[in-house]
Amino acid sequence: MPSPAETNAVAKLKADHDRVEALFKGLKEAGEDETERLGVQVCNMIKIHMALEEELFYPALRGKPEAREDKLDEGLIEHDSGKLIINDVLADPGQERAAPKLQVLGEQMVHHHKEEEEEGGIFEQAEKAGIDLNALGEAMQKREAELKAELNEGDLPPSEMNFVDVDATPE
Ligand SMILES: [Fe+2]
Ligand SMILES: [Fe+2]
Repeated sequence: MPSPAETNAVAKLKADHDRVEALFKGLKEAGEDETERLGVQVCNMIKIHMALEEELFYPALRGKPEAREDKLDEGLIEHDSGKLIINDVLADPGQERAAPKLQVLGEQMVHHHKEEEEEGGIFEQAEKAGIDLNALGEAMQKREAELKAELNEGDLPPSEMNFVDVDATPE
């Protein structure tokens, strides 16, 4: 039986944040081959984490009186910003500029994690909104297992943007 800490949705997402940040720390010291391997690993880890948030966590909070819609939108736009780099790196993980791209991605993710975790952020909003965080955590575990199985069989499809229009050009 998983312990409550593992099924609680907020605890699970925070644990993911810690794992992602530890991998980015490792990337700072990594050589070329290691950069490629760790880069693919961290990009896929973030993709799965964002999918769990976008498919389950954010929708559970959206519309609740305790939810700040502007914070939810900001979070999803930060996801889009990260996905631009993630899709680019995963399309060609051995590319010449993978290391600086991953460096920027790491900085963006540290900022994004802070926004989700800080006072007034979406995690605290969810706790105050009375959402059943254990049921949500269980649903997330199930979805995570599906996505990991999909990843084991090959690559996950490129991440889709929420709001950022990648084809937009100024008039
Ligand atoms: Fe997020
Ligand atoms: Fe997150």
